[in-house]
Amino acid sequence: MSKTIIVSNRLPVKISREDGSYELKMSEGGLATGLGSVYKQGNNLWIGWCGMDVPKEDESIIKDRLSKENLAPVFLSEEEIHLYYEGFSNETLWPIFHYMSTYAQYEQSYWDSYQSVNQKFKERVLAFAEPNDVIWIHDYQLLLLPGLVRQELPDATIGFFQHIPFPSYELFRLIPWRKNLLDGMLGSDLIGFHTFDDVRHFTSAAERLLPVQTTANVIHTDDRNITVDAFPMGIDADKFNSLPSSPEVLEIIKNYDDALGCKKIVLSIDRLDYSKGITQRLQAFEKVLLDHPKYIEQICLHMIVVPSRDTIPQYAELRDQIDKLVGNINARFRTASWHPIHYFYRSFPIEQLSALYSKSEICLVTPMRDGMNLVSKEYIASRTNNDGVLILSEMAGASKELTDALIVNPNNLGELSDAIVEALEMPASEQTSRMESLKQTVTKFDIKHWVKIFMDQLKEVKETEQSRRAR
Ligand code: G6P
Repeated sequence: MSKTIIVSNRLPVKISREDGSYELKMSEGGLATGLGSVYKQGNNLWIGWCGMDVPKEDESIIKDRLSKENLAPVFLSEEEIHLYYEGFSNETLWPIFHYMSTYAQYEQSYWDSYQSVNQKFKERVLAFAEPNDVIWIHDYQLLLLPGLVRQELPDATIGFFQHIPFPSYELFRLIPWRKNLLDGMLGSDLIGFHTFDDVRHFTSAAERLLPVQTTANVIHTDDRNITVDAFPMGIDADKFNSLPSSPEVLEIIKNYDDALGCKKIVLSIDRLDYSKGITQRLQAFEKVLLDHPKYIEQICLHMIVVPSRDTIPQYAELRDQIDKLVGNINARFRTASWHPIHYFYRSFPIEQLSALYSKSEICLVTPMRDGMNLVSKEYIASRTNNDGVLILSEMAGASKELTDALIVNPNNLGELSDAIVEALEMPASEQTSRMESLKQTVTKFDIKHWVKIFMDQLKEVKETEQSRRAR
């Protein structure tokens, strides 16, 4: 019997050290939930970084604790965290893949470390994998891993899914090590992205940079065929749909009724990231207050920014910019009993998020670039009364599916502020008809569906490839 091994940069667990002992908290994120049905079965497992710098002498404690959960940690040194994770992953690939090429650093030391950490992940995979296992590798931190594993296990079934956009060739070509990255990815049998545009960009980059042929969505190398396809990721829609009626969330909602202090709430939830368009969103909200003073004391922007990668200079700068903008807007418009922006720089438990999704008349999801964006889907699934308005950037992968949202170009401040006004004034009947259709999409194409279609297609392309080789 073959087993399935999931590999990603991070394990679906948060480890913290308190009074010398380690606390484990399983992640409630969509990917962790969706893949739970896979890695928790039998001998299956999930390999990844445990998210912190663990002293050598404690590694075996962590390993033992995690193995009970079918998790296998990869340990990264402080230097690897700096060069591979902060460096190549997040200062080279992340900005290029999100079309922010001027932010990209092309450091040889980052690249060297990216290669050696991908090797380190390979060693970890080989410690568990057998020749016929299914290996599902995730995201841009591990682009070389499919190729490295393929060299050692030529018959393994290898799937790769990238959760962030794949940029146009004109952006991708800027990376000095572009061919090596593509070669690494082509070690897979199946490569998945969220949208067909990503598929198109990837195939075009492969055709232009490597000696490969393509027919439709299959890339042919000298000796192998690799299928590339779109698998738009979903969320645990049932969970977000049922949370608002749970006693815990009802209690939070009741307390919010008194505390929020404005008639209509515009919600914004993101990780701290320059790809998310947070400053543009603040400017658009300010423009609404400037151009339409009737909304003063009537609306507020409830903005959650979850701390992320704040050791990287651009992230630290963005945080300062947000602090400043929020301060200016609040100082300019606040009255004795009201202030326009409620800003929180921290993470919140899912129950609190659910209460906010339920309470907010509008959700503003306006990234400059986003692979998918799951906040938009969580908002929809949480609207149990089928009301509320989603404003969604056309640069988010989700906009390809959620066409009944108000779709905006996040660079167009006027369009963004008009959309906020349109949402504030939208008749209830229109809200309902839009929300019902959005809900259908989010419910039908949920995370379980996503895992199933990827795994089914992976199996299918492998079988096709095996019978082609047997001929
Ligand atoms: C994005 C990436 C993930 C990453 C997450 C959080 O969603 O696609 O791979 O794990 O951001 O970022 P972090 O750097 O904290 O892992």
